[in-house]
Amino acid sequence: MSTLMRKITFAFLIAYFFGTTICFADPFYWGVASAAFQVEGSPADSDWKIWTHTPGKIEDGTNADRATDFWNRYDEDFQLAGKTDGESPSLGANAFRISLAWERIEPEKGKFSEDALNHYLEMVKSMRQHGLEPFLTLHHFAFPLWVAKGGGPLADSFPNDFAEYAEKVVQFFAQHGSPVHFWMTFNEPNVLAYEGYIYGEWPPGEKGPTQEALKVQFNLAQAHLLAAHKMKIADPTSKVGIALHWRVFQPKRKNFLDARVATVLDFLFNRYFLNTIVKGSPCTSLIQMFCAKTKISTAGALDFIGVNYYSRSLASFTVKAPYYVVEEGTGPHKNDLGWEIYPEGLGIALKDLSDYKKSIVITENGIADHADRWRSSFLLDHIKVLKEAQRSGIDVMGYFYWSLTDNFEWARGLKANFGLVEIRYDTFKRIPRPSFYTYQKIIKDSQAKSVSLERSFGN
Ligand code: FCB
Repeated sequence: MSTLMRKITFAFLIAYFFGTTICFADPFYWGVASAAFQVEGSPADSDWKIWTHTPGKIEDGTNADRATDFWNRYDEDFQLAGKTDGESPSLGANAFRISLAWERIEPEKGKFSEDALNHYLEMVKSMRQHGLEPFLTLHHFAFPLWVAKGGGPLADSFPNDFAEYAEKVVQFFAQHGSPVHFWMTFNEPNVLAYEGYIYGEWPPGEKGPTQEALKVQFNLAQAHLLAAHKMKIADPTSKVGIALHWRVFQPKRKNFLDARVATVLDFLFNRYFLNTIVKGSPCTSLIQMFCAKTKISTAGALDFIGVNYYSRSLASFTVKAPYYVVEEGTGPHKNDLGWEIYPEGLGIALKDLSDYKKSIVITENGIADHADRWRSSFLLDHIKVLKEAQRSGIDVMGYFYWSLTDNFEWARGLKANFGLVEIRYDTFKRIPRPSFYTYQKIIKDSQAKSVSLERSFGN
């Protein structure tokens, strides 16, 4: 056998060995995700605070004024999530995703609250003490009132305002030893645009045409780009990503029109924002000349793609405007909110996203399941799909379950329970559900077999 052949055979054997026995890159981030408005308890003024106090907007009439009292109890939650200390129950995770409340940090334009920033710094320190790598989202749905009143993400001034806030936050952490490496600018800019500007279920409650939601996504993308450049200057070690909701759209019937509808929805919902921050325009090369194009450089503005995956939709064509219907998938198992449980969709999402040639983090994946009937199998099935994706060569560097605890689920209120840990809202007592221990075991088993892979940062 020639030396070259021997080398190739050896490489194959190594690949086969790692591909079949070792699945997770080191460090692989096992975590849980949350968002400020849903857990902290919200004293500050935001559009969501007002929305939750407007009669009829929240299904069960609850609000997030106390939520899970995370603002005061974060250390307890980080202890629950973090490395095992032998006594109290702990998940053994090595990462935690939180978001910062913009309305606390910059309650008035240009006036930043040192108290709020210091409080978040304490949170980050606590995470690190519990062995958790902090993943911080700068914006997760709620806007300070001054932003909302000024036109929110539709305003021309929005990208600059957001970038100034992002810069200030990253500068602050950089001055305190850069304890945060992983940042996400926005959570689900696509969901924000659809819920707030087409369905009108979220603030500002507009039931506008699709173009409105596209404008919102485009402006959010410009805000991401501006912010990312400033963040990189404020802290050159920072990794900047986003957390994008990825919905798998499949044709309801096997016909040309349903297939076209599914492709168009996939473009408008999944790819519009992402294409803009990666390629400078939402459209692919062929039709680029008809599409908006940003003047802000995309170079170095995205280190990783965070994907929030929950379920799939079935799309079909109809002769009545707006010429499409979107329905929940028809699989046998649904969560408490009626969302189909469809683990295969995670594989489709990861495959689609791998085309963008960035490291991927699963920044959210979870199930509303008060009785904890499906959560363990949900975790096992989705993580199996994640392993398969890794084996096929897709660089997935982390998995964050949504969420450690029950919390305030936006327009659904407190009744949707996604937590590995139940919250008793009268006492704020935290009670791990059986699936908490399933996830704990998954993490423990996987840590026994990890391998170093090169990240694609900087590509
Ligand atoms: C995602 C949101 C998150 C939470 C989960 C259930 O779309 O990002 O805040 O509400 O859904």
